[in-house]
Amino acid sequence: MDRVIVVGSGIAGLTAALRLARTHLVTVVTKGRLGESNTALAQGGIAGVLDADDSIEDHIADTLTAGAGHCDAEAVRVLCTDGPDRIRDLAAAGVVFDSAEAGTGETPDPLDPSGWARGMEGAHSAPRIWHSGGDATGRAIVDALIARLLNEATAGRVALRTETMLVDLVLDAGAVAGVSVLGCGGGTEVLPAEAVVLATGGAGQVFAHTTNPAGATGDGLAAAIRAGARVRDLEFVQFHPTALAGSGFLVSEAVRGAGALLLDAHGDRFMPGIDPRGELAARDVVALGLHRRMARQNGLPCHLDARAVPEVGQRFPTIAAALRAQGLSLSEDLVPVTPAAHYLMGGVVTDLHGRTSIDGLFAVGEVACTGVHGANRLASNSLLEGAVFGVRAANAIAAGSTESQRTSSSDDARLIDGPLLDAQLIDAPSAVSVPQPAPAPLTRPELQALAWEHLGLERTEEGLTTLLEALDAGRGSERPAGDAGSRGLADPRGAVADGRLGEVEAIETANLTLIARTMAAHALARTDSVGAHVRTDADSRLRA
Ligand code: SIN
Repeated sequence: MDRVIVVGSGIAGLTAALRLARTHLVTVVTKGRLGESNTALAQGGIAGVLDADDSIEDHIADTLTAGAGHCDAEAVRVLCTDGPDRIRDLAAAGVVFDSAEAGTGETPDPLDPSGWARGMEGAHSAPRIWHSGGDATGRAIVDALIARLLNEATAGRVALRTETMLVDLVLDAGAVAGVSVLGCGGGTEVLPAEAVVLATGGAGQVFAHTTNPAGATGDGLAAAIRAGARVRDLEFVQFHPTALAGSGFLVSEAVRGAGALLLDAHGDRFMPGIDPRGELAARDVVALGLHRRMARQNGLPCHLDARAVPEVGQRFPTIAAALRAQGLSLSEDLVPVTPAAHYLMGGVVTDLHGRTSIDGLFAVGEVACTGVHGANRLASNSLLEGAVFGVRAANAIAAGSTESQRTSSSDDARLIDGPLLDAQLIDAPSAVSVPQPAPAPLTRPELQALAWEHLGLERTEEGLTTLLEALDAGRGSERPAGDAGSRGLADPRGAVADGRLGEVEAIETANLTLIARTMAAHALARTDSVGAHVRTDADSRLRA
């Protein structure tokens, strides 16, 4: 039986691993504890059409519109068509979606979506967001899938390597031959495999302000870039409009979906003057509108007003509790909010089965660029993408279909208005190689501050060039592992062995540096504004 390595344990990695356990020997490698991921923090829910009065065509249309003309239409169709079955799979795996009957004394069938409560989020034309625990959907999904995975591990079909960091991909004759990892005991180790599935999530830690957890350092994306995999669309970073000011804590868009309003520092509503959909405009529109309103009020945060939302504390218990810990009440106070980096639309280019440009290498979830999100992801399509393409990649591996996805020029044309801006497009090395991440020229806080300033919600050629020069300035100069800039950062991954922490952080900072450099190069090359990528030195669509 062939050995497959899945790197990452969010929804995409767990879904792929569980499916692969039926046919392969699977090793799940994950940097922190099992399930520590962006998925676990996801609040709003998972989007999909499960009701007769909604339509898959509408979900497709909403996704394409939000993506600002930059989506792969075929991939969007797959996402929205496969999606309902994947949501039902999650319910069958033990995720209890919230019931519309809550409080009525009825005992609903947890597998019957007709009894589930539907949520609304920005740029959806119908309420089609399915949630669990009110606003703890990601946690519920991760818990259910991990319980299944532990059963597979007990049965010997899955090996678990937790607190084990991906360092690099190992290639042999241009094909993937395994991964090199940094394990609990320190020291790099090579794990051989016939196929590798990258499910390492995003890279929000490039930025000083992010909703992402500390571990979101783009390790899989950076390893893929170093290995010569095709990447694209890294200029498309989604900024969530409503992180709690002064922290990266997400205040879900679902709160606005339930009726909360955005107010400026004078207490005035401003979104209806920017977009007729108001607070439920697409996320790029709301984030930019809020960012520009903050600029007009000397950087003061705007406020989310959920005071008129019925039973808001019960509907959003995670958010209410987090605010309470800060001395705020969701039902009685105005909540100060600012934008924060949230999601990376671009990534490792894949086909509709998760295959990348390197034989045997797959990418699923946020690390991948399937083309479903275009230039701006539709709310709650990310969990959906992880579930849909996790299964599709696993099925392709099970079918022995692991050859690289060689994008022909006609394939590329499917990606509307999307030049492949990959300076990284180089031939994969032909000998077995374990490349090492280049040392980072800036400390992590320096990098994050500069990226926020020049690669944030508004960009210019001058700013991007400044960033690239800073990133290139120290290229080649050695910075020891555990450099002062990254040592001492608050890191909730308490289980990471102390002696290894400096090494892990040094590799992470090198990864963030490589990703920031590639993002900046892509952003520089795209001189027009589209979706979440706003070039104020080119023509800009929004003038708030
Ligand atoms: C949110 O709950 O606002 C985030 C959902 C998403 O990123 O799709």
